[in-house]
Amino acid sequence: MDVLDRLHMDVPVAQAGMGSMAPAELAAAVAAAGGLGTIGFTGPHVLEAAIDRVHDSAPGRAVAVNLLMPFAKRRHVEVCVRRKVHAVVLAFGGDAMLVRELQEANIFVFVLVGTEQDCRRAVAWGADGLIAQGVEAGGHLAGYESGDQFLSRAIASAGTRPVFRAGGIATSGDTRAALDAGAAGVVAGTRFLLTHESAAHPAYQQRVLSSRKTLETTLFGLSWPARHRVVPNRATDRWCDTTGKASRLPSLLSAKSSPLARFAAGGDESGVLQWQRPGLPVFSPAAPVRGLPDEWIERSALYAGESALRMERVVSAKEALEQLSPG
Ligand SMILES: Cc1cc2nc3c(=O)[nH]c(=O)nc-3n(C[C@H](O)[C@H](O)[C@H](O)COP(=O)(O)O)c2cc1C
Repeated sequence: MDVLDRLHMDVPVAQAGMGSMAPAELAAAVAAAGGLGTIGFTGPHVLEAAIDRVHDSAPGRAVAVNLLMPFAKRRHVEVCVRRKVHAVVLAFGGDAMLVRELQEANIFVFVLVGTEQDCRRAVAWGADGLIAQGVEAGGHLAGYESGDQFLSRAIASAGTRPVFRAGGIATSGDTRAALDAGAAGVVAGTRFLLTHESAAHPAYQQRVLSSRKTLETTLFGLSWPARHRVVPNRATDRWCDTTGKASRLPSLLSAKSSPLARFAAGGDESGVLQWQRPGLPVFSPAAPVRGLPDEWIERSALYAGESALRMERVVSAKEALEQLSPG
């Protein structure tokens, strides 16, 4: 069966799971408008309620969940199976047993990939579909090369599996180009970050819109010292060079911090951000959600992709989906 039919999509556009930035409200609005809405990684209780909310608000549409594997626990998987989600996106980890368990619950399993090695591994796990991420993407980076270049490699590795392109999707033309290049669909994060339904702090959204560049960095690496793309703020001004490379002190502190991932369940931005300061070299991956003090955008990760440089305003999720639909 065609992936769009299986996931009840009218248009080949998926909204990326973006941690706390992608609550049920956003996923439901995207799903109701005919795209694939994805609930961002969060604690198991919040996740369960979010799945129910998307089921209720967008009847007849699919519910997808992003599982951020460095932080995911058994209970996250159990919730996805128990609440009968339609799709799961495994990001930054996974294995064949997990893929099989999800598939046995009739869940379509996407795996986020950024290299040919990732593709081979995801295929060996038995993934149903791949999400091929280019290095221009916002948030954490699996990709090392431009989405254009990597897409063809991912398609070649995927065999008959559908491949969605992530990174650099800002317009319907971008979606059309991805489909023409053989993608089954696209995944957009930043476009949906800049919507009324995302949980992003309004000052964060405005900073993304007014930025003239993005940075690939590892600065916000406490508990997860992986590459990510952000727009500049006071923290990056203080601790990164002009290319985004973080200075030694925060890099050293982050490099040793992976074991902390065991204690993070997702979804508690205010708890960790209250301790951060632009002048202190310890930065977690938490991003500023609506309701936190405005000035906290200077101390936290402002994830955004290169696609942001081609966006002008915050819109509704429905309008964002229309902008990205190939027509
Ligand atoms: C604010 C933000 C948070 C993100 N968080 C996640 C995440 O939790 N899990 C994940 O798999 N990808 C995450 N991503 C990356 C997206 O999956 C996707 O690859 C990326 O957004 C595509 O590039 P674009 O932002 O230019 O559309 C995030 C992206 C953004 C912008």
